[in-house]
Amino acid sequence: MQLFIDTANIDQIRTAWSWGIIDGVTTNPTHIAATGRDFDEVLAEIFRIADGPISVESVSLDADGIVREGRRIAALHKNAVVKVPIIVEGLKAVKILSGEGIRTNVTLCFSPLQAFLAAKAGATYISPFIHRLDMVGHQGGELISEIRQIYDNYGYQTKILAASIRNCRQVLDAALAGADVATMPFDMLEALYQHPLTADGLRMFLNDWRKVPPSKLFS
Ligand code: G3P
Repeated sequence: MQLFIDTANIDQIRTAWSWGIIDGVTTNPTHIAATGRDFDEVLAEIFRIADGPISVESVSLDADGIVREGRRIAALHKNAVVKVPIIVEGLKAVKILSGEGIRTNVTLCFSPLQAFLAAKAGATYISPFIHRLDMVGHQGGELISEIRQIYDNYGYQTKILAASIRNCRQVLDAALAGADVATMPFDMLEALYQHPLTADGLRMFLNDWRKVPPSKLFS
């Protein structure tokens, strides 16, 4: 499963990219607004730092507008992916953009049938929002399994990009359900590394190491 970082924060993208386990970046208008910076400059910096798929969201609500924005986003960089909301006009635009070889990430997906429609329109990625579903008493992990089954039944190549992730359990569920990608905030990526027994074990080993006579190997 690929891992994307879900932010437009340049410091976080730079740090996470240096870890060597990040494959791409997803942004949305909320992330861009949170930077308080010029949109074009932020995008240019992200493209410089991260060499992987970078989703940039369109903001028009009609197909013509989304296609126009999508072409501009795609022209920015070879790694650009156009994020499009899962509405009728959005999927009309996805059909046109995918016909032009422009990669798309269909966002705000909350049902398996929405994901089915996105695949039919030729989406490169579908983004089911896991935590927002969990928050209203549904199960985001189940949504991923159902999408996986539909895509496998019919051989759709659209990649499942598990989005809106807020805890490690959701990352595990995404991986077990066969998501192709999981995107998450910086603090979630950090949390994936952590386990209290790892910290305890490391402390114990290093304490014991002090009892070992000095070695040339580590001096
Ligand atoms: O990619 C999804 C993300 O951008 C928005 O989800 O719920 O984390 O705000 P959320």
